[in-house]
Amino acid sequence: MVAATREFRPSSRGDASAIALARIDYAAEAEPVGTMPPPAGLLDGVKTAAKMMRGQQPTLLLDKLGERLAFERTGVRLYEALLSKHDSSLGGGLTRADVQHILDEEREHFALLREVMEARGGDPTAVTPSADVQATASKGLCAVLADPRTTFVEGVEAILIAELTDNECWDALIGLADAAGERELVARFAEARDTEREHLQRVRGWLANAHSRAMTAGVFPASRRPPLSARASGRKSTTRSATGRQKRAPGKKRTTGKKRAQATPRAR
Ligand SMILES: [Fe+2]
Ligand SMILES: [Fe+2]
Repeated sequence: MVAATREFRPSSRGDASAIALARIDYAAEAEPVGTMPPPAGLLDGVKTAAKMMRGQQPTLLLDKLGERLAFERTGVRLYEALLSKHDSSLGGGLTRADVQHILDEEREHFALLREVMEARGGDPTAVTPSADVQATASKGLCAVLADPRTTFVEGVEAILIAELTDNECWDALIGLADAAGERELVARFAEARDTEREHLQRVRGWLANAHSRAMTAGVFPASRRPPLSARASGRKSTTRSATGRQKRAPGKKRTTGKKRAQATPRAR
């Protein structure tokens, strides 16, 4: 790999500082990711909307409610995919009910946010600007869980990122509700935040157990086993990295970057 970086020089001139300047130029002219429509409550002048006006940005709370709502919905999907990994017997050390329990709580959080949003004149089906950004940021988590090559443990590692974000963002939402004078919301959100603390603790525990089991066994579990088809035929297997690049089977001679380039010419 090091030799190839010397052989195939960058195809364009300049360095990363030119990229930084281009980013700044684009940012100066870029439009925001999205904008929030005013909640119906604001137009009607109802009491709840008036409360939200206390903040500098009346739609900020709704935007963040939408963000959390979308993330909790994604959380349900992530745990559903994790259940499939569990059922395909790549998991171990914890029961199906353990995973299902957290999945149900993520769904409850989603329902809570939908109710709160509707009560404040917001549209729970709208992708708010913050929800859009969060969805982009968490795309990789869904990709890891949906990938049939990843193991149960790798799925839990991806979910750990989601739970860390969950914990942080519920805290932020509580702060916003507090600033808007929404006492009841603060109490309900604090309850959800406490549940998220438990999720994080459990996920960390599962991972610690899985890692210590793997260390004791001397192998990393499941994904490092050859695929079933290869095991049945007794041939040596190759594995693919997360980038889809095939790794060499032990003992197989390496193809140089030059030979590969000759065999498969590509646009530079
Ligand atoms: Fe959650
Ligand atoms: Fe959670």
